[in-house]
Amino acid sequence: MAGPLLEFTGLDNSVFIETGTFKGATIQCAVTHTPFSIIHSIELDYQLYLKAVSMFVAYPEIHLYHGSSLDLLPLIIDRSQPTTIWLDAHKTIDGHRVVGDFIPGCECPLLNEIDLILLEPWTAPLIIVVDDARMFTEQWWTGGGKYAEHFDRRQYPTTKEIFSRLIKAGLKITEKEDRIIANFNPFIIRS
Ligand SMILES: C[S@@+](CC[C@H](N)C(=O)[O-])C[C@H]1O[C@@H](n2cnc3c(N)ncnc32)[C@H](O)[C@@H]1O
Repeated sequence: MAGPLLEFTGLDNSVFIETGTFKGATIQCAVTHTPFSIIHSIELDYQLYLKAVSMFVAYPEIHLYHGSSLDLLPLIIDRSQPTTIWLDAHKTIDGHRVVGDFIPGCECPLLNEIDLILLEPWTAPLIIVVDDARMFTEQWWTGGGKYAEHFDRRQYPTTKEIFSRLIKAGLKITEKEDRIIANFNPFIIRS
């Protein structure tokens, strides 16, 4: 898990916000391998949230929240602080069963999350990372994406819709492995 986050080390990027805590793998990586001084993570599923609370009780820099990213992002975001926002909240399937939770009718709140983040101008550097980018491709839905039959395709944006939202707001986009990375300055992402 460390790999994807390591590219952000050394950046003047002090706050990390994740939507979709799940089992805490990304937070574990952020707190172990990156220089983020404040880490926020939001999880809708109460049991997963409680597990994360006990897992990270010894880390005062980690702030965990129970609820929907759509309610909590506006309360957490500080546009005057350099921030990386890791968007990973969506319905999750493992072994053909749902793990975690999701809002009925809103399996993937991604576009709304992006809208909330970009609602007002940022005065500090912002990086938006969309994880699991494969799920937004035509190929994933039609080419046998793992457990694709358990998801309602109408509730997921296309890559094109995600790109157009980000580009319209003036962000530059880099695609890397299974992630879409967007920021206002394309040169601060390590290659
Ligand atoms: C793919 S998992 C996240 C994986 C995690 N980021 C990691 O590093 O392992 C998606 C998580 O998002 C949660 N989730 C779904 N909808 C959500 C929402 N609207 N707000 C917050 N969390 C949500 C699910 O309960 C699930 O735990």
